[in-house]
Amino acid sequence: MPKESLTVTDNRTGKQYELPIENGTIRTTDLRQIKVSPEDFGLMGYDPAFMNTASCKSKVTFIDGDKGILRYRGYPIEQLAEQSNFLEVAYLIVQGELPSKEQLEDWKYQITHHTIVHENIKKFMDGFHYDAHPMGMFTSTMAALSTFYTDAKNIFDKESRQIQIYRLIAKVPTIAAFAYRHTMGLPYAYPDNDLSYAGNFLNMLFKMTEPKYVPDPALERALDVLFILHADHEQNCSANAMRSVGSSQVDPYSALAAASAALYGPLHGGANEAVLRMLREIGSKDKIPAFIKEVKEGKGEKKLMGFGHRVYKNYDPRAKIIKKLADDVFEVTGKNPLLDIALELERIALEDDYFVKRKLYPNVDFYSGLIYQALRFPVEMFPVLFAIGRTAGWVAQWEEMLLDTEQKIARPRQVYLGYASRDYVPIVRR
Ligand code: SDX
Repeated sequence: MPKESLTVTDNRTGKQYELPIENGTIRTTDLRQIKVSPEDFGLMGYDPAFMNTASCKSKVTFIDGDKGILRYRGYPIEQLAEQSNFLEVAYLIVQGELPSKEQLEDWKYQITHHTIVHENIKKFMDGFHYDAHPMGMFTSTMAALSTFYTDAKNIFDKESRQIQIYRLIAKVPTIAAFAYRHTMGLPYAYPDNDLSYAGNFLNMLFKMTEPKYVPDPALERALDVLFILHADHEQNCSANAMRSVGSSQVDPYSALAAASAALYGPLHGGANEAVLRMLREIGSKDKIPAFIKEVKEGKGEKKLMGFGHRVYKNYDPRAKIIKKLADDVFEVTGKNPLLDIALELERIALEDDYFVKRKLYPNVDFYSGLIYQALRFPVEMFPVLFAIGRTAGWVAQWEEMLLDTEQKIARPRQVYLGYASRDYVPIVRR
């Protein structure tokens, strides 16, 4: 039976070391024994942007980038998108198993009855400028929420964590909708507990003077599926932020604000907004070849937004589902004219060696924005919509980190290449 270990020879000393292999990894701390002298600090691993570093053990989400596989707690995303609903998937991601009927009813009741936010949150949000970016409003308001729930600091109390998780999943649509209404200059619309999670979100966004908002079932379902598709994605940039900031034992609202800030970036959750801007910039199918040429000659500056992925080197399975979902939405809303440009852009890119060689395929953000726009969301709201679904994943990753006995405060090392010691020079001599 081959030994689960690595034998390395340090050519500087000729010494050999045996490093155990566990779960396809070596512990980087095992490298520290490799020294050239007793006072030597020992070897470290160097891995900018964590291209090949596992920061944790997790049971939440599995991705196979080469095969284009995505599973939440072992269930394929295709089956969950087809047969489940967001609140059930949120339960699965957070609790680890599909709920029984009673468990789901209780979960729905808890989430539904935590949708309202303190009235002072409205005053806080009123302070933003009329054209404030809704993701900036969302991120800062999530941090502000921590000041309303001081019990959230009891992070090692399971009951307290459970209540905060209810509050976070329940309140993110309310805060997202308030941010939207603020940018539109509309009065805030309150939650309607008779509606589903996605239906109530549509209600808080689009309710005008009618006594009771009635969501379009096709749009309600499309939004619910989009929340499912965005719910988690293992150790992406924002999940890493949630874990890293959470490892300081701060409350989950503050950690989630950090995760939301990470998601805001155009290389991450802000890509869906950037895709729409890119499609508008291209403007028509005949301008696609010139745009593709610019990207290829742009030396990485200009990117084909919505394409590429750190893990997927195949078609993002979520993009396939969203592409099909778009047809259902456009049945109701009318086809988004930018769809033809997106389809032609994808066709050309998938045949172009530059993209094929780099294994750049459409990711979750390439088509989602077309649906959001057809649902009448301004592009600035797209990352906020991403954050609503991803809150379930963030809180699941946060709790898993807290309960992992191997974890402690995240504090990476560095390779120091700066000056050695040198003496201070008074200003008169500089
Ligand atoms: C999300 O991590 C997750 O799971 C994220 C996410 C989730 O659910 O949490 O899936 C959500 O963030 C999806 C990604 C959304 N971002 C975009 O669509 C922005 C455009 N994509 C790129 O910025 C890029 O593909 C990343 C950021 C997604 C991945 O970047 P990597 O893994 O660091 O890859 P890289 O930048 O090293 O690219 C490798 C090569 C480079 O060219 P060379 O230096 O080898 O010549 O591919 C090129 C890059 O320039 N490249 C692109 C490109 N993406 C990579 N060139 C043109 N257009 C692109 N989109």
